[in-house]
Amino acid sequence: MTHLRLGVNIDHVATVRNARGGAYPDPLRAAQLAEEAGADGITAHLREDRRHISDADIEGLMEVLTVPLNFEMAATDEMQAIALRHRPHAVCIVPEKREERTTEGGLEVAREENRLAHFIAPLRDAGCRVSIFIAADRKQIEAAHRIGAEVIELHTGAYCDAHAEGRLDARDAELERLREMSAFAHSLGLEVHAGHGLTYDTVRPVAAFPEVRELNIGHFLVGEAIFLGLKPAIAEMRRLMDEARAGS
Ligand code: PXP
Repeated sequence: MTHLRLGVNIDHVATVRNARGGAYPDPLRAAQLAEEAGADGITAHLREDRRHISDADIEGLMEVLTVPLNFEMAATDEMQAIALRHRPHAVCIVPEKREERTTEGGLEVAREENRLAHFIAPLRDAGCRVSIFIAADRKQIEAAHRIGAEVIELHTGAYCDAHAEGRLDARDAELERLREMSAFAHSLGLEVHAGHGLTYDTVRPVAAFPEVRELNIGHFLVGEAIFLGLKPAIAEMRRLMDEARAGS
């Protein structure tokens, strides 16, 4: 099976830093450690309210990273200008609401097809791989394909929430949906990524989907780093993903 890439999301290293408004813990140092621990890429979400990652963090990441940066952003003019200035390897378009604690759902591509098609065209022209963060929903996948996205990232939050709350039938149904929609998106020629809320307990079944090429994982890893250290926490996730991929 193809190698499954691990993108480590470092947003919540910045959350801890910003809790005191100082310079540490430094997300750039976390990104460099993540690289050493086997991350294939670094993911960072520059939110409109700058609640965690800052503009300076993005600038620093572009300078120091030797692995690709997956720049998550809302579909706004401000973010488009920032992405065009930095030209990261990948741009992942996510929905954003100020009042949410985290990215709650996928992007409603089908509802905004025209606007999004125009929005992503210059990003593609600038050489960025454009990914769209969506629910595992046929209508959204078809719309993402029509607007010219090369990649979709499937939102695994509903699956992970159902697992955490012990709703096992719902969890299995969500997993089945993710499995079917990964295969469907792949059949359209889209590269399939997945993420949100993944933990050591939930990562394996998703990692085993052959069509999924990349997982983006952050919050759990930063939490686990408190107990294990960042490099061992990431190395363990890497091990679980590789094991699932190998079918053991
Ligand atoms: N993928 C996308 C598109 C996201 O928005 C996020 C959260 O920022 C993640 C993956 C990572 O989610 P988590 O931090 O829950 O692992």
